[in-house]
Amino acid sequence: MQSIKDKLNLDQLPQHVAIIMDGNGRWAKSRGEERTFGHKNAIKAVREVVNACNEISIPYLTLYTFSSENWNRPNDEVSTLMSLISETLLLEAEEIFSKGLRMHVIGDIDKLPELVRDQMLRLVEITKDNKRGNLILALSYGSQNEILNAVKQISAKVKSGELTEEEITEKVFENHLYTKDFPPVDLLIRTSGEVRISNFLLWQIAYAELQFLEILWPDFGKEDFFKCIYDYQNKERRFGKTSEQLDENI
Ligand code: IPE
Ligand code: IPE
Ligand code: MG
Repeated sequence: MQSIKDKLNLDQLPQHVAIIMDGNGRWAKSRGEERTFGHKNAIKAVREVVNACNEISIPYLTLYTFSSENWNRPNDEVSTLMSLISETLLLEAEEIFSKGLRMHVIGDIDKLPELVRDQMLRLVEITKDNKRGNLILALSYGSQNEILNAVKQISAKVKSGELTEEEITEKVFENHLYTKDFPPVDLLIRTSGEVRISNFLLWQIAYAELQFLEILWPDFGKEDFFKCIYDYQNKERRFGKTSEQLDENI
């Protein structure tokens, strides 16, 4: 069977893809199961996109795994999610390492159970010299809080004289975000038919292409991912310019 992967222009890949992995609960409900059954079945889809990125060498993949607002879900769902994250980190650690992927985490990780935080940080540490690609998990992540923290850090620096007001540029601001070491997001994908951002990477998606898909996250596979890349490559990213300017390369 021909893969849509063969139609991709490998010289024009997005450098940073971010995914809002949504729809686990509905996937489970439609099968008459508990919501947590959906979370358990979400891991295969994660593996698929990690492998797909690895196959075509997309250097940065950010996965929205648990939002700051998700702490407000029922306790048993939160604890099942935390156990699943912990188990998955343990089971997949070797695979991530051997693929040459470097792991990162963004979010308010102090809120995570100690076990999850330690496993996460251990994986970040042992993969820190890997160069094949970057896998970024957004865990206990909220973009408004990230932006607010940046503002607080910058104002403290202005107060202490380390920075002047004139020195606060977009670049300086970005250097105070969790994502300071990553390029801006080129492509944002959300599954499950919801057309919203849910407090994810608000600053970083300023010029991203946005794709909202009907498919529920546990059903998402490699071919779906390659289709997203294909559609991305058929968009003209103008960054405020006109088509004519882009044609003339000015
Ligand atoms: C996404 O699936 C996973 C997390 C938010 C952790 P949901 O659990 O939000 O599934 P739906 O949106 O209720 O179907
Ligand atoms: C966003 O999904 C968070 C993650 C996918 C981790 P939600 O399901 O929590 O988003 P809302 O609350 O429906 O917008
Ligand atoms: Mg949801």
